[in-house]
Amino acid sequence: ASTLGASAAERGRYFGVAIAGSRLSDSTYATIANREFNMVSAENEMKLDATEPNQNQFSFGAGDQIVNWARNNGKQVRGHTLAWHSQQPGWMQRMEGSSLRSAMLNHVTRVATYYKGKIHSWDVVNEAFADGSSGARRDSNLQRTGNDWIEAAFRAARAADPAAKLCYNDYNTDNWSHAKTQAVYRMVQDFKSRGVPIDCVGFQAHFNSGNPVPSNYHTTLQNFASLGVDVQITELDIEGSGSSQAEQYRGIVQACLAVTRCNGITVWGVRDTDSWRASGTPLLFNGSGQKKAAYDAVLAALNSG
Ligand code: G3I
Repeated sequence: ASTLGASAAERGRYFGVAIAGSRLSDSTYATIANREFNMVSAENEMKLDATEPNQNQFSFGAGDQIVNWARNNGKQVRGHTLAWHSQQPGWMQRMEGSSLRSAMLNHVTRVATYYKGKIHSWDVVNEAFADGSSGARRDSNLQRTGNDWIEAAFRAARAADPAAKLCYNDYNTDNWSHAKTQAVYRMVQDFKSRGVPIDCVGFQAHFNSGNPVPSNYHTTLQNFASLGVDVQITELDIEGSGSSQAEQYRGIVQACLAVTRCNGITVWGVRDTDSWRASGTPLLFNGSGQKKAAYDAVLAALNSG
């Protein structure tokens, strides 16, 4: 096929993109997003600060703009994200203990219920593990409510929207030998053994020269999949340019295609100029909306085999 979404669909997978609602009025942006992708993530509009700016006062307008755009254009939606230490509204940042636990679970329940039936996969919990070699949980107000906060969030999400796939999502979990990867793996293994409802693991996949695509990436994806969860590449971007960048993108797509349970890839923005990264050219389209070598490599990888 001739687009990322259609080519991925032929391989039983989706190809998604993060959308910023404020950019949908840019016709170049919207045209590319609509043509190429069949899954959409809200870059910021479904996060905690956006959806519950005041406690128990929910605000779905910005999220709805993206969800409605996706559905009107025949695309599915990944929900991002229900529980996270970052981008919390001020009232939540100031909470702790059992009242924070209750507020977090209320948030998960209310947001997942509101979007019930419209979400392919939810990033239920985002970025809960520490960087570095400790393999520990990240310290946060949510973590300080008790180590079981993650499973509590997953159980609340399952109860609210039983049809949505429930994912744990994180970054720097790409290299199989890293302590953070191993720690997330052990959590998923534990959840599966105890019947905690988890269906998928999201690998953000933000790469740059200091954090290159590891040679054991396929091993990482396969080992998680072997636990009985789907794996998804959820926020892909790779700093660089030309054939070097293109080959790294190709390797990511090939690694996903080699794992039966790797069921989708999402890039974290449309054009280089839409990226959250202040510098660099990490995406598949240049600032003018033209396809880069990285795009051609991704499309070719999807269409071969
Ligand atoms: O909307 C306000 C605007 O009103 C204000 O004038 C402006 C001034 O700073 O800020 C705007 O909000 C910004 C928002 O993006 C929308 O543009 C925030 O400051 C800025 O922090 C926020 O950055 C987002 C970042 O998450 C925040 O953590 C990025 O767009 C978004 O791409 C990025 O996405 C994250 C994933 O959610 C999780 N994984 C990592 C990934 C990249 O950091």
